[in-house]
Amino acid sequence: MLRTHTCGELNLSSVGKTVTLCGWLQRSRDLGGMTFIDIRDRYGITQLVFNMETNAALCEEARKLGREFVISATGQVAERSNKNPKIPTGDIEIIVDKLDILNSSKHPPFTIEDHTDGGDELRMKYRYLDLRRNPVRENLLLRHRMAIETRNYMNNIGFIEVETPVLIKSTPEGARDFVVPSRMNEGQFYALPQSPQTFKQLLMVGGIDKYFQIVKCFRDEDLRADRQPEFTQIDCEMSFVNQEDILATFEGLIKHLFAEVKEVTIDDIPRMTFADAMKYYGNDKPDIRFGMTFVEITELVKGHDFKIFDEAELVVGINATGCSGYTRKQLDALTDFVKRPQVGATGMIYLRYNEDGSLKSSVDKFYSEDELKKWATAFNARPGDLMLILAGMAINTRKALSELRLEMGARLGLRNPDVFAPLWVVDFPLLEWDDDTRRYYAMHHPFTSPKPEDIELLENEPGKVRANAYDLVINGVEIGGGSIRIHNHELQKKMFTILGFSHEDAQAQFGFLMNAFEYGAPPHGGIAFGFDRMCSLFGGSESIRDYIAFPKNNAGRDVMIDSPAPISQQQLDELHLKVDLPNCEIN
Ligand code: AMO
Repeated sequence: MLRTHTCGELNLSSVGKTVTLCGWLQRSRDLGGMTFIDIRDRYGITQLVFNMETNAALCEEARKLGREFVISATGQVAERSNKNPKIPTGDIEIIVDKLDILNSSKHPPFTIEDHTDGGDELRMKYRYLDLRRNPVRENLLLRHRMAIETRNYMNNIGFIEVETPVLIKSTPEGARDFVVPSRMNEGQFYALPQSPQTFKQLLMVGGIDKYFQIVKCFRDEDLRADRQPEFTQIDCEMSFVNQEDILATFEGLIKHLFAEVKEVTIDDIPRMTFADAMKYYGNDKPDIRFGMTFVEITELVKGHDFKIFDEAELVVGINATGCSGYTRKQLDALTDFVKRPQVGATGMIYLRYNEDGSLKSSVDKFYSEDELKKWATAFNARPGDLMLILAGMAINTRKALSELRLEMGARLGLRNPDVFAPLWVVDFPLLEWDDDTRRYYAMHHPFTSPKPEDIELLENEPGKVRANAYDLVINGVEIGGGSIRIHNHELQKKMFTILGFSHEDAQAQFGFLMNAFEYGAPPHGGIAFGFDRMCSLFGGSESIRDYIAFPKNNAGRDVMIDSPAPISQQQLDELHLKVDLPNCEIN
């Protein structure tokens, strides 16, 4: 080893020892007679001292070093007179008597310290330099611990990790596929897996009754803070189980990860049906760190010549407790918020329950004080509260009120990232109707089994069929989702028909799975967790990028390696691709 110690481990107990440290020069301070250098590696920072009086030549040499030079320094550990309590090595320094430059460095494009002057794009371009910063490295460390603890837990309960292929055929998770042209099969393409869904089901047919895999998935979809085109799942499947078994098994995983990685005890995870989540939170991933649940007052408010309410399919609101003091300006800001195109409401009505017991609303001229009292009672409101009400088409109004609820939660400091409120959302609808294409789509994926008691509705009222499907939601983020699968060949065929697949299409796309199901498929089910999302939740950040070593930007580009990029004409020819767009080939 070129070093005897790391830059993070020396303390007063090492005083007097001769040590050699290797690392990067983070900072140097020249105080005339003395030069101080902070040397950094993965483990920490140690102060090196060069003394002009005792070793002028070495001190001169040290002064010439620039930021991020890679150096090796040998010397004696000494107690510092001016201690730095902020770092673990802050009690000591190294009086250097030998210095080697292992490599020089260009001046870095941004400061490589905890607080950096580098913007997002610049740090992405030089991600290898960003990785030298503590916050970024700590995120990767957290991710590593999450992966290790996942493997420990799964291994201990008898799951085996099996790798599934990456060059496959389209999987039905609902996003666009990334495709890879095949050189050896002209005109044919592989698809990268959106998830290992079909393979894990084939593993069940193969008798591998407890499977998991920490696995890359690829989805060509619009990107957001919690979405990357390539991301990682903890993908799991089990045979001979029902929904209860799956929820219990993976509740165990979640509790284990919180206990081991965050030292947080998670109580039994509550459950909510999809129908209740939509009714009370307007959202299939409710943030239950706070209440402020929806109250429907549609019937109560109709018939008072207030057109907006009279014409609305749904009138629904939330009670912001203790907010009756909101000023006109604050209420206008909330109205502007709900009118933003992303939120989509046409306006907002408020009802103030003043501390003195009087009531004041934005629609006073249509409703008497007595009427308003009835509203307040419906909201279970007390003096000091403020009710915020939206009206319109049910779906849009619920969605908009959900945004408003989250906004109010944030404004009132009710969304503390150190509080974790997991929730199982269960009983999702099996199918989703799409008005544009006038057909049903699988809400989860086409292999999800209907609830046995709803199967008879499949024929005539497919929209009402509930699925044995569940999501794990934590703090309003969808962390995982899964289902009990259809293992019956005939039922699977029927599902494909309902989903509008012709027999030929279903055979061409999923024939391999349907054939496998004719050879004794066991009852099975599973779940997949978004590993990047889990890491960012544990780390207290909204962006999963921070927890990925080499992420893509919002346009799906890796700005460091500059990808995607054109390919040469020769490669295009070999792949039998004819592309006549400008800039699409290089020589
Ligand atoms: P699903 O599509 O719900 O289920 O995905 C499982 C979890 O993966 C995470 N996730 C993502 N994370 C980052 N970037 C993305 N683009 C992205 N897309 C999804 C989410 C999500 O809950 N095969 C099924 C699972 C099953 O049925 O067992 C599946 O993939 O946290």
